[in-house]
Amino acid sequence: MRSPTLPVSSVPLSTNKHLLRWVEKMAELTRPASIHWVDGSEEEYDALCAEMVASGTFIQLNEERWPGCYLARSDASDVARVEDRTFICSLSKDSAGPTNNWVNPYEMRRTLKDLFRGCMRGRTMYVLPFSMGPIDSPMSQIGVELTDSPYVVVNMRIMARIGLPVFKEIDKDTKRVVPCMHSVGAPLVAGQEDVPWPCNRTKYIVHFPETREIWSYGSGYGGNALLGKKCFALRIASNIARDEGWMAEHMLILGVEDPQGEKTYVAAAFPSACGKTNFAMLIPPEGFEGWKIWTVGDDIAWIKPDANGQLYAINPEAGFFGVAPGTSPKTNPNAIAMLSKNTIFTNVALTPDGGVWWEGLTDEPPEECVDWQGNRWTPETGRQTGAKAAHPNARFTAPASQCPSIDPRWEDPNGVPISAIIFGGRRAKTIPLVYQAFNWSAGVYVGATMGSETTAAAAGAVGKVRRDPMAMLPFCGYHMGDYFRHWLKMQKSLSVTPKIFSVNWFRKDEEGRFLWPGFSQNMRILKWIVDRARSRAVAKETPIGWMPRHQDVEWRGLDFPVEKFDELQAFDRASWRSEVIGHEELFIDLHDHLPPEMIYERELLICRL
Ligand code: OXD
Ligand code: MN
Repeated sequence: MRSPTLPVSSVPLSTNKHLLRWVEKMAELTRPASIHWVDGSEEEYDALCAEMVASGTFIQLNEERWPGCYLARSDASDVARVEDRTFICSLSKDSAGPTNNWVNPYEMRRTLKDLFRGCMRGRTMYVLPFSMGPIDSPMSQIGVELTDSPYVVVNMRIMARIGLPVFKEIDKDTKRVVPCMHSVGAPLVAGQEDVPWPCNRTKYIVHFPETREIWSYGSGYGGNALLGKKCFALRIASNIARDEGWMAEHMLILGVEDPQGEKTYVAAAFPSACGKTNFAMLIPPEGFEGWKIWTVGDDIAWIKPDANGQLYAINPEAGFFGVAPGTSPKTNPNAIAMLSKNTIFTNVALTPDGGVWWEGLTDEPPEECVDWQGNRWTPETGRQTGAKAAHPNARFTAPASQCPSIDPRWEDPNGVPISAIIFGGRRAKTIPLVYQAFNWSAGVYVGATMGSETTAAAAGAVGKVRRDPMAMLPFCGYHMGDYFRHWLKMQKSLSVTPKIFSVNWFRKDEEGRFLWPGFSQNMRILKWIVDRARSRAVAKETPIGWMPRHQDVEWRGLDFPVEKFDELQAFDRASWRSEVIGHEELFIDLHDHLPPEMIYERELLICRL
């Protein structure tokens, strides 16, 4: 039955019948007060930001110091991705695999229908078309997000290509469009006053891989709500990529340029909280004059072989949604320059002069500020109560084009050629600073078995190794065993296989001190990786792979003793034995889908140990 009271709608900006019909159907279900077709213009962005300032969702920052910047404070219950509320609803449970939450899709559809019925009452439903990847790229994909959150619209305008040019693509009807439903789940009755951050305690982040649909309910935050990012570009795209013979990966992409102007691109996967954004925007240290690191992406890579069997990668995003705490002029000067204008901050602290602050931004905290929950905070209250001024997962949303190290080719529709793949984790023991896998399938084994120690920021035991294959544990939209199989199969379409490396910036000595200075010094390791990828660096063979010796690394500008390097690179047979037993834990869970190559690689490793 059609509603007698139709929502007020702006003029539809598409003529695509399927889209028009879907918008109408979803409006009937969710009952918004109005419908706004998003054109993606600057005027529209400014108007939405102004509306949010008026409604209290946004605070406009000091225009002189922070031009075009806003601060949003989320509800205290809505501060991060919710993995336990994230579902892969494939037709069979077996396709989702044991590492994903699964609910029968028919049952889930009923649940969602009930949740979404009337959920946008009193709000505007935005029809937000977006392209992941440059619109003219053969590698890009299109989605439309229907959302009742203007915060989502303005963040998506930074993180993706949105608006009229995307509607134009949709009207050509040549690409499949992924429908993305999003509601904060907080309908308003007539006269009810809104809150600055509407959301619902009940949360569902749902993916239907076969029909390529996303439904997200109850959260307005990050990856739960900006559906182009983790939901589409990783969970749904990993399914598309498997079907079409490419890869959707949780990887940064960077280019290393040497003083002769030769450029080598690498992709790297690290679990969350391992410094991906810092690595992607690295500034070479003293001793590397004439070298330059170019940033293509900091979170997601879509990688595809070209007609000649060379892998090319695009960054499907258009902005950086980075973790603010810990970001400083020392750790990441490029990020600091990037976020000085036109940036949306979420859950950082507000300083008395209308600026922002977070832990780690400066050595000395401000004398006072307003914390991420809107309370007065001083270093003293922080010490007394342990309260942080900024939430540990506070974020900046900044346009990639503002990053000083953004690669001139970052929007190349054909992507950039990938010569090396790096897997990294946070490991206090066992894993050396760097080694190279013997070949592609040994490299897939390295990625499949990578792990990272849980940090104090996450719930659960601290320092426990969590296996996070290819850093995709929360993001792979199908069975992890089949994902390994897909990685192995990719080799068949490659004429040149990128070399695969393992890095660990976080190894500690017996006293618990980091052995490696990290940050810009990682350049030294990156240089060895690039030289290996170009077959011009020396390495020694060890039971786990190829390793540089002290003399194979460029040390100009840093006094780093041989003994310390040897400690960093030490291969300890006994620890590796328990490491291999640790690999087995994940493999047991995946056993019925595990490709035999993973077992052979493990056996080979055991033999070498
Ligand atoms: C992210 C994550 O937010 O990986 O990028 O958690
Ligand atoms: Mn990420």
